[in-house]
Amino acid sequence: MQIKLKVFRYLPHTGKKPHYDTYEMEVDPNDRVLDVLEQVRADSDPSLGYRRSCAHGVCGSDAMRINGRNMLACKVLVKDLNSSKITVEPILGLKVLRDLIVDMDPFFEHFRSVMPYFVNDDPLPEDGKERLQSPTQRERFDDTTKCILCAACTTSCPSFWANGKYVGPAAIVNAHRFIFDSRDTAAAERLEVLNEDSGVWRCRTAFNCTEACPRDIEITKAIAEVKQVIYSGKIE
Ligand code: SF4
Ligand code: F3S
Ligand code: FES
Repeated sequence: MQIKLKVFRYLPHTGKKPHYDTYEMEVDPNDRVLDVLEQVRADSDPSLGYRRSCAHGVCGSDAMRINGRNMLACKVLVKDLNSSKITVEPILGLKVLRDLIVDMDPFFEHFRSVMPYFVNDDPLPEDGKERLQSPTQRERFDDTTKCILCAACTTSCPSFWANGKYVGPAAIVNAHRFIFDSRDTAAAERLEVLNEDSGVWRCRTAFNCTEACPRDIEITKAIAEVKQVIYSGKIE
């Protein structure tokens, strides 16, 4: 099929202002948007910049705005866009470094601020044995273990657009994963961070994050659960 691809371009070293380039091209309807971008690089313009790695929805590096919605370019087929006009732009709320590549440092700073790692300095129950957890206890945080840190959620959140200090849904999801882990002992420290001015209370339940998540994580629900823990003082 014939498509008209419009791509946001910004190459700071050229001195040119940000603009859009348009490419009329023949593609297979089963091509993914990532394949289309690769085709542009191969046939028309090798200077087009974007991040990608696994090409299979695992690494989270190719989140971009496709026809106005945050998606992973490697997970969306051209035919599923139901349009021969495709516009590709960088995700919003983070500084554009070049073309579709944004500065992810603020995103990862927020991520690191919630201690996204397992903490338990207590001695093991019996020397060399595992810390046991029931299937129900494991199930409690299963959904939030699926995050691949693509930033599609945080960069679709109006509260984050309004104030980049907001820790954002991705950081809260990754805090949730450990707060509700029965073996972890650092929930209080994480909840303190999330109860700050830049924490969970900035979430206005817009739901954009949940709609954008390529892993179908129930993000807004996870945020509500963290709010409830802060409110009640109980992890249930
Ligand atoms: Fe991406 Fe979903 Fe993780 Fe947000 S919660 S960073 S959208 S995988
Ligand atoms: Fe933003 Fe998601 Fe809350 S889009 S306002 S973090 S529900
Ligand atoms: Fe890895 Fe798309 S390239 S998720």
